Amino acid sequence: EEPPAALAVPQAGQDGLTLLHRVGVVDPASLDDYRAHGGYTALRRAFELGPAGVIREVTDSGLAGRGGAAFPTGRKWQATASQPDRPHYLVCNADESEPGTFKDRVLMEGDPYALVEAMTIAGYATGAHQGYLYLRGEYPRALHRLEHAIAQARARGLLGDDVLGQGYAFDIEIRRGAGAYICGEETALFNSIEGYRGEPRSKPPFPVEKGLFGKPTVENNVETLVNVLPILTMGAPAYAAIGTERSTGPKLFCVSGTVERPGVYELPLGATLGDLLALAGVRDGLRAVLLGGAAGGFVRADELDIPLTFEGTREAGTTLGSGVVMAFDDSVPLPRLLLRIAEFFRDESCGQCVPCRVGTVRQEEALHRIAERTGAAAAGDIALLREVGRAMRDASICGLGQTAWNAVESAIDRLGAYE
Ligand code: NAI
Ligand code: SF4
Repeated sequence: EEPPAALAVPQAGQDGLTLLHRVGVVDPASLDDYRAHGGYTALRRAFELGPAGVIREVTDSGLAGRGGAAFPTGRKWQATASQPDRPHYLVCNADESEPGTFKDRVLMEGDPYALVEAMTIAGYATGAHQGYLYLRGEYPRALHRLEHAIAQARARGLLGDDVLGQGYAFDIEIRRGAGAYICGEETALFNSIEGYRGEPRSKPPFPVEKGLFGKPTVENNVETLVNVLPILTMGAPAYAAIGTERSTGPKLFCVSGTVERPGVYELPLGATLGDLLALAGVRDGLRAVLLGGAAGGFVRADELDIPLTFEGTREAGTTLGSGVVMAFDDSVPLPRLLLRIAEFFRDESCGQCVPCRVGTVRQEEALHRIAERTGAAAAGDIALLREVGRAMRDASICGLGQTAWNAVESAIDRLGAYE
């Protein structure tokens, strides 16, 4: 039985969509319909350019990773392509689990062939013949559609031993997550595919050198990969003209919370938070916005002029992360909300390293004590939270522990929580 569809994609007032232009327009089950809407022109272009030419285009486009960390994609591809060790692997991280993130789901459900085509291009450019698509277990509709798309592509010579008759062999295997947030961390994801516990590995070595099965691996988020299609069809200069000089291209934003029209929005990087909330219908009484997800931070309702760029959000002391924009009005009790975030991190910590395993528990306990006093905090609890937060940030192995204190810290410092 199919679950309800992903949140509708609001289109009103959004012309010239680059990433979402086929979503809600094409039949996601039809390869012919995908082709009729421009599908597989990017792969043809890739074969004309050759692997080095594709990497040059991606580098020149300025594309930075859309999973949350914004690492330059061209640099990652080049670093893998140049490794002498074989085989190389391509992994698509579709374990979209950051609370408030649902953009990859919309792409995979609405335009599954785009991801199959983009993975084929990424594999070709970086010398991989096997791609793994690690899909969030809670996305059964995306699973069915991607399984169908992969089977159709294989049957029509767009995957397999001789892709498009170009002598390049590439195939994709889907692996499903089983509900653990940590398996979206890139190296925990490798362990999960390899059949081990989903625990992060220490970096370096980075996956470009030693990744899946210890081999050079490119791992990219779904949205990152889908961006490669317009880069190749419109050319790097035209793509780089979208957005700002340091944050190029379009970006998907996941808007939820106290807005009139929650959903996935596509805007060029450089639009402001206020522009985005105006599209989504911001309600009166807005108090705060959580930017970048639970690992991100809160900003105040009077900070809506923050530019939605990697550098703009960094300068504002927050992050764009995976594009989470969660709005809260006065009806949402802040102490309850912070406690919920702390519970989440305590629950999802894999327990491998002490700062995070213990720190997430201590953080939750302190927030519990505060919430039981209906929000009033003893100075001692705030000091403890800061100390524990610093230890988690400085000494945790992976991003989960390093960011588990971000949202609470920003609520205390920016929103004056507990004052
Ligand atoms: P990271 O900064 O450690 O790495 C980012 C990417 O760049 C990785 O693929 C890494 O291998 C690569 N990289 C970094 N330095 C490199 C180097 N010198 N050479 C080659 N490759 C290099 O960040 P991480 O831990 O991968 O991601 C953290 C982000 O993930 C957070 O910002 C958070 O927003 C986001 N996130 C997203 C989720 C989602 O559902 N989309 C879920 C949880 C977190
Ligand atoms: Fe596991 Fe947390 Fe350590 Fe990451 S920081 S390895 S989630 S215990």
